[in-house]
Amino acid sequence: MGLELATRAARLSPSPTMAIDAKAKSLLAEGVDVVNFGAGEPDFDTPAHIAEAGIEAIRQGQTRYTAVAGTAELKAAVIERLRIDVGHRYQPNEVLISVGAKHSLYNAIMAIVDPGDGVLLPVPYWVTYPEQIRLADGEVQLVPIRRADGVLTREDIEAVLTSRSRGLIVNSPSNPSGAVIPPEELRAIAELAVERDLWVISDEIYGRLVYDDAQQVSIAAFPGMRERTIVINGVSKAYAMTGWRIGFAAGPRAIIEAMSGIQSQSTSNPTSIAQAAAVAALTGPQEAVEAMRQEFDRRRRYAVERVNRIRGLKAAVPKGAFYLWVDMSGLIGEVVAGRTIASSDDLALAWLEEAKVAVVPGTGFGAPHYFRLSYATSLERIATGLDRMAALVEGR
Ligand SMILES: Cc1ncc(COP(=O)(O)O)c(C=O)c1O
Repeated sequence: MGLELATRAARLSPSPTMAIDAKAKSLLAEGVDVVNFGAGEPDFDTPAHIAEAGIEAIRQGQTRYTAVAGTAELKAAVIERLRIDVGHRYQPNEVLISVGAKHSLYNAIMAIVDPGDGVLLPVPYWVTYPEQIRLADGEVQLVPIRRADGVLTREDIEAVLTSRSRGLIVNSPSNPSGAVIPPEELRAIAELAVERDLWVISDEIYGRLVYDDAQQVSIAAFPGMRERTIVINGVSKAYAMTGWRIGFAAGPRAIIEAMSGIQSQSTSNPTSIAQAAAVAALTGPQEAVEAMRQEFDRRRRYAVERVNRIRGLKAAVPKGAFYLWVDMSGLIGEVVAGRTIASSDDLALAWLEEAKVAVVPGTGFGAPHYFRLSYATSLERIATGLDRMAALVEGR
């Protein structure tokens, strides 16, 4: 015994996306002009009518505990949103409001994963998934995505699936790749989930941010999927509300009740005033969502075109979210600013220290020869950052 940490805590990796962001922010705090492509959040302010609803909730004294699973008003707003996004009419006891989509995911994984259970996780993955699976003592079953456009296929999953596999995580649009799984691929994945009796956690947090011909479809919409899918979404990305911390989950009543039970003994209800603001977000005017999407789209097209002109870099055109997922294997073994580049960690460090640009190395996403560039910053800053990155890599 003694003053040691629980193994659960000791084996957690700190979020690498937060680490580079923290380093960039500390340079910024010192007054260094860093272009930060590390952020995982919109650069826009929360639309004014939403912020006002939060202020009004305080004035009206909506400052007490709410029901653990969320207020009736917010559940009703979420149910209406899910009717549009997913196509099912969920009941109030099939919906749970939590402290951000990350918390919704945590509750879901805690509710379905027993020690030793396998959870199929497509690679590249958002950094939090493997850590949450390990917190539940589950086995992370990595599913390499083979298509160059980053789209997950049924065959990818079949190559890894074992008798221990209990669940599958689907994240479309994807963080980090921006890939959107088209309906025909989703249908094939859904059929596999039914055949092999898998839970599916469908993280649709970037569902409102899709571009070109991409269509956002929920895997929960396919036959036999409603009873085995936990849909995860929230207000953070679509409404520029990352700090408010409101996410939600929808699924079969038994699983939602189990998740609610876990939440009741950890956080209780999410913040009452943030719930009021989320009602305004979901039920109020939606123009701001579209305006932000269009601005992300402009930046996306500019950034992907320019990145592909930099020596040694290659990026597929992302169809969703606000990230470029860049293959830097063309620079492995090359010398950049006097450093021999062995991985994207080396390259990211060189850019941060020598060019004052922050990107997130792919190591934490399971892909050490890639990096993630978030274009959730102004076109002007994107131009400046890419100028600096290109100049360093090309020795100018
Ligand atoms: C794929 C994915 N899911 C969930 C989240 C968490 O969102 P929230 O801020 O609502 O917890 C993020 C945030 O970065 C994300 O990228």
